[in-house]
Amino acid sequence: MPPPILSPPSKRTYDASKFLTPVLTGLDRAAGCFELLERNLGTRTARIRESLKPGCHGEAGDGSGPAAHFLEPKPRDFRVGRLKFATVAAGSVPRDEDYLRTINRGLSGTAMSAFNLLNEDEKRSLILYVRGLRTGEAEVPGPAVAIPEDPWISEPSKGIAEGKKLYHGMAQCFTCHPAYVPRAQISEYLKSYGMPAEGEFRENLYQSVAKESEWGADITPPNFLVDRIKAGTTREDLVRSIATGVGGTAMPSWASALQPEQLWGLAYYVESLVRIRETPQAAKLMASLQSQPQPPPTPVPH
Ligand code: HEC
Repeated sequence: MPPPILSPPSKRTYDASKFLTPVLTGLDRAAGCFELLERNLGTRTARIRESLKPGCHGEAGDGSGPAAHFLEPKPRDFRVGRLKFATVAAGSVPRDEDYLRTINRGLSGTAMSAFNLLNEDEKRSLILYVRGLRTGEAEVPGPAVAIPEDPWISEPSKGIAEGKKLYHGMAQCFTCHPAYVPRAQISEYLKSYGMPAEGEFRENLYQSVAKESEWGADITPPNFLVDRIKAGTTREDLVRSIATGVGGTAMPSWASALQPEQLWGLAYYVESLVRIRETPQAAKLMASLQSQPQPPPTPVPH
């Protein structure tokens, strides 16, 4: 008997393998790509194809495979030729390394697992194939957003303080994500940037607000004390996500609007929240914010 082509899968790689189906079944329809992959993957293609289950991204790569119905967030529609998580500014054409990072690492808290099964050549072939699913004219990948040096490395607590102030002040991240400080403190932060807080803050200030996306459904921004971050939780990952934004969603690219110490400050602050995610400390913070005295009702004109 020939040795098994797929080495005994760990649970993780096994799970990952089922998401390969749509790419491989879609191959039947794209002869050129199929040949290329067949050449690179050899007999392994057939073996993988046999052993895989119905997939997520769909045969045409449109994000509507049979499993997609049950998944939240939904699989990417490759016809669009864009990714959410990349090194290019949100909305630009992704680079190969952006596909590669997601293939290698998966997206935390989603059905997209890491593809540990594949070797480098196979991954490159898949990227080529997935790019080929794009409809419309070929486009050139955007430039990678430059990530500046970390200026807070020797003073992390100052970085956190800078980020906290920006988050609830000038950058107003809390218009989509939850706020994490009392209302009075937000007013103080806003004033420190010469932005007087007039009127009331939004209702449910301590929860995220679902926002429209270009992916066909509203997307709720993460609450950093509760939800998983998809594209990595190191400061380097966070600064990249903040600098580039998240393609096709309301999360904008902040790279050109903010200074390096501000971008990194936000990454330090978000990391400080992510670090206590789902701990008693996080629950205590949320409870104390929820139990703040309500602001007096605004008088209704007669
Ligand atoms: C206009 C709405 C909006 C604003 C303002 C906004 N975000 Fe987001 N943000 C989103 C949405 C929507 C997502 C979820 C994207 C997804 O998972 O598809 C998100 C996701 C994120 C993520 C997670 C990325 C991942 O890997 O899962 C981080 C970190 C983040 N935002 C940080 C910030 C920071 C810091 C600010 C302020 C500088 C900010 N956001 C302002 C809408 C917003």
